[in-house]
Amino acid sequence: ETWDMGGHDTYMHKEIHEQPEAVDRVLRGRIDDRFATVRLGGLGIDNREARAVRRVKIIGCGSAYHAGMIGAQLIEELARIPADAEPASEFRYRNPVVDPDTLYVAVSQSGETYDTLAAVQELKRKGARVLGVVNVVGSAIARETDGGVYVHAGPEVCVVSTKCFTNTAVAFALLALHLGRVRDLSVADGRRIIEGLRRLPEQLSEILKTEEDIRRIAAEFGTARSMMFVGRVRGYPVAREASLKLKEISYIHAEAYPASELKHGPLALIEPEVPSVAIVPNDELLEKNRATLEEIKARSGRILAVGHQDHPIADETIIVPRNEPELDPILLGVPLQLLAYHTALVMGRDIDKPRNLAKSVTVE
Ligand code: AGP
Repeated sequence: ETWDMGGHDTYMHKEIHEQPEAVDRVLRGRIDDRFATVRLGGLGIDNREARAVRRVKIIGCGSAYHAGMIGAQLIEELARIPADAEPASEFRYRNPVVDPDTLYVAVSQSGETYDTLAAVQELKRKGARVLGVVNVVGSAIARETDGGVYVHAGPEVCVVSTKCFTNTAVAFALLALHLGRVRDLSVADGRRIIEGLRRLPEQLSEILKTEEDIRRIAAEFGTARSMMFVGRVRGYPVAREASLKLKEISYIHAEAYPASELKHGPLALIEPEVPSVAIVPNDELLEKNRATLEEIKARSGRILAVGHQDHPIADETIIVPRNEPELDPILLGVPLQLLAYHTALVMGRDIDKPRNLAKSVTVE
């Protein structure tokens, strides 16, 4: 493929920097200020049907699965519908109970990932209602699903997903807002989320301006053999995705854990040579997350904190602009895309085409 690199050295760098405009695109034409909701023309379910949904099950692979984890939390928070995400391959091989009151959502950048497609086909055969959150228009998963939300990230060429991950999370925020507003989310909360969504492009641009700092931090932390990524609740999918990004392009070993699970085992790994990246937003779990930072420091672990204010206990802090708490995960991972990028760059890796990986896995 030869797309214009637009003056960037790699597609990954270009795609990271395209995020403000990409998010602008996923929002465009969809916000309905009058009813403090969104219009999702391709959803294919009416408001009465949306009200009848008892559960949401999200399936996808890799980064799509991680974006689905953020999506599940958004749907639970905004629409108060029980929701969870699962890797599509696990889902299809465990013979899941297919329930008529559950809304299934298949997530994919390419729309061609075989495990996700096969799961969709099995669900359809069993009469389930399946929506797609897909980037490539007219792809196999887009065609096989009953409707859905296009992600509109534009073409993503780099094997590792960046802008599509972010746009997928935003697409889920739209879906969650829509489901919320046909159920119990108030007009005031609908407005609050809409205002938050509108702030995202500008806030993404602000984050991208800190690239020089992140490059310096990458040089300092990127020499590690192994890294730990931790986050709680909203921060956990962010940690998962950041750890995957680092592994894929730098080949540095990385673990992602819910912060609360550290003391149940992985704390044994913490030492000065194994730095931790901690996601520490200023939300209702700030105090809990501060305790995690202390837990790591007490074992002489070096810390990079990503949050909304300086954390003196950490060796480095990346400060990200604050949005509404539900939308914060969309922003918190973006500097960590740059961290993975600059770490891999220093190591001389082939960033756009990492070893052993393909852009879409269309085989079993
Ligand atoms: C992301 O950086 C990965 N290369 C990979 O995990 C990817 O997200 C996964 O293979 C799913 O692809 P899809 O979104 O095209 O279905």
